[in-house]
Amino acid sequence: MRRTTRGTPGQNAERTPNGTALRGRLRRLTAGAAVTLMAACALNGAPAAASADAPPAYEDPALPVDDRVEDLLSRMSLDDKIGQMTQVDRSALVPQSDLATYRIGSVLSGGGSVPTPNTPQAWAEMYDSFQRTALSTPLGIPVIYGVDAVHGHNNVRGATIFPHNIGLGATRDPGLVERIGRATAEEVSGTGVDWTFAPCLCVARDDRWGRTYESFGETPELPGAMTTLIDGLQGASLGAPGSVLATAKHYIGDGGTTGGDDQGNTQLSEAELRAVHLPPFREAVKRGVGSVMVSYSSWNGVKLHGHRYLITDVLKGELGFGGFVVSDWAGVDQLDGRQGFTAAEVRDAVNAGIDMVMVPHDYRRFIELLRAEVRAGRVPMERVDDANRRILAKKFELGLFENPYTDRSYTSTVGSAAHRELAREAVRKSQTLLKNSGSVLPLSRSAKVFVAGKNADDIGHQSGGWTITWQGGSGNITPGTTILQGMRAAASDPSRVVHDRYGNGIDGSYDVAVAVVGETPYAEMEGDRPGSMGLDQEDLSTLSRLRASGVPVVVVLVSGRPLDIAGQLGGWDALLAAWLPGTEGAGVADVLYGRHAPTGKLPMTWMRSASQQPVNDGDGKDALFPYGYGLTYTGTVPDGPDDPEDPENPEDPEDPGQARCTADYRIVSQWSGGFQAEVTVRNTGSAALDGWQVRWTPPGGLTVNSVWNATLTRSGDTVIATGMDWNGRLAPDGSATFGFTATGSPAVPATVCAGA
Ligand code: GLC
Repeated sequence: MRRTTRGTPGQNAERTPNGTALRGRLRRLTAGAAVTLMAACALNGAPAAASADAPPAYEDPALPVDDRVEDLLSRMSLDDKIGQMTQVDRSALVPQSDLATYRIGSVLSGGGSVPTPNTPQAWAEMYDSFQRTALSTPLGIPVIYGVDAVHGHNNVRGATIFPHNIGLGATRDPGLVERIGRATAEEVSGTGVDWTFAPCLCVARDDRWGRTYESFGETPELPGAMTTLIDGLQGASLGAPGSVLATAKHYIGDGGTTGGDDQGNTQLSEAELRAVHLPPFREAVKRGVGSVMVSYSSWNGVKLHGHRYLITDVLKGELGFGGFVVSDWAGVDQLDGRQGFTAAEVRDAVNAGIDMVMVPHDYRRFIELLRAEVRAGRVPMERVDDANRRILAKKFELGLFENPYTDRSYTSTVGSAAHRELAREAVRKSQTLLKNSGSVLPLSRSAKVFVAGKNADDIGHQSGGWTITWQGGSGNITPGTTILQGMRAAASDPSRVVHDRYGNGIDGSYDVAVAVVGETPYAEMEGDRPGSMGLDQEDLSTLSRLRASGVPVVVVLVSGRPLDIAGQLGGWDALLAAWLPGTEGAGVADVLYGRHAPTGKLPMTWMRSASQQPVNDGDGKDALFPYGYGLTYTGTVPDGPDDPEDPENPEDPEDPGQARCTADYRIVSQWSGGFQAEVTVRNTGSAALDGWQVRWTPPGGLTVNSVWNATLTRSGDTVIATGMDWNGRLAPDGSATFGFTATGSPAVPATVCAGA
């Protein structure tokens, strides 16, 4: 994080209202007083500066970070060091001067802990105020401020809200995720904040878990691939403009608890824990992630917050993690299973390898207890020094000592058009098409459409938890575009897109009904679903009303996980998993109206029923849709944008007398190392199709073992399927299906269908 020149505009840190930094004080006092003051410092165990005039070495940015750390450490008292290990929520810092009095090293905003008004400018003012207080201490160590910017800078009203991680996993696009990291870092920087508690690298193994949507996917490979978010957040270097510190969380096994119980118990052998849950952290460490947050969960009954072997021996030792480890919110309190924290819990957590404790409220008691444990020799000074070295190194690398205040040049990026366009791209790419009977999608721009469902016109619902508040909410909680608004903008005549949340008013005059249903926002344990995982009664009633009209029904599922919908799927003509798209709902409309074909692939296996949970790739269970499944459209986009030369006469979506074909490619079954696919070719034109070919380029190659109803040839890496004599000719709306078995990736590639 680089900021403008030292001191906020018009202010210099050495004339801060809360008093002056020691060096400033030394320069101002008479020589005698200066000598007295230095003597006083020596008594507190903080050796005085070499000379009253030369700035201390730790203030010299030309020196190596390690040298600056050692010089600063040598000047710090025990209280200075304990303060650096203390993180406090902004709301608990009363009076704010306690930040200086107790030498507190870090402040955070828990979910929804925001300034009033909740604007980027107010955040920047708040941050700078805390920083001025921190710099008023004798050593002038800047504070590091952390937030959960987990899908954009989501606490801040007006910020760009990106799809939650489950949708980003469906994109299979690590480069996109890196760009999202960069955009998020800019918006975070523009509010002063230095550090985000992201990415969650959880491998969600049981969809009943309330944090499934914070996972990029159920296999270690997908979260591992998406650690590119760290590169986006931290930039070329932590001190570079717009860079913020990233956090790999929650170490380790948070997504593997029995029953998907949030903060529960992960019952696995060490080999299984290492195979499934460790790889994303190994990847994050390789990418230089600056911090790691410990999981609330337990491993075989032992709380991670007290787990020395996993934190110190494995993470810091074996993986070589050089950043600092932060606890989760009051995570230390859980060690003994009772409310509040004790000296023993503080001791055990710090001795296990936690470097900074997110207290987050009773900091005075935390500091008192830790000081007593150190003085009693139950927490070694070496452990305290190691924690401080790790924390201070990141503060130096972030450039906080040279540029401690908000870089206001980024404040205007919060919610910018460019970031919202990036978010819309991510929404498009996350859309996962799971059913499309009769190619009911894409919608014609001129179609008469009835839109229903509680999630059709609700920014809060489409954003999910961790949005403005911890749990998220309903309605216009922040500026954005709802899915309905996006659909109306895509239609050639918005008045032909009619909406009623409950489906009242639907009749047979409509070409199609679109039901945007699913879940309402939740976060963490509030989202655990140990029981039913199906649609709620409102959605079921709405869908029933739509189906009764006889009009084709397209279901758009806005949810943080796969839901138990197999029982209803037969009555739906299409199913699009939209996940939790965030503020840019137009990205869903882009796919519904075919401006962009769906390319999303399931990041989680889709259960056939909740009783299957946990259900994961390769476990041999007969899922409804397998991991990696996803359909696409083929042929050209039926309704391109209006003809710019002749805006009054938009392009005619269907050229009369022409044959067109689409190809739905789907995986019908898979087994370890192999799979069976079927492709249905349909003539969507109004003239007979004499011969068809379907082309696709399988990712990572393909070895076909058997094929039926078509002949397969190759052109380079592209596979070409050609119809047989007896099924190559298709009347309008006629179809033919061919299939094959193969070894290789069952990922569903984009397929193109054309006349032979
Ligand atoms: C929460 C979450 C964690 C978050 C932290 C700070 O309880 O477990 O993901 O970063 O507290 O808000």
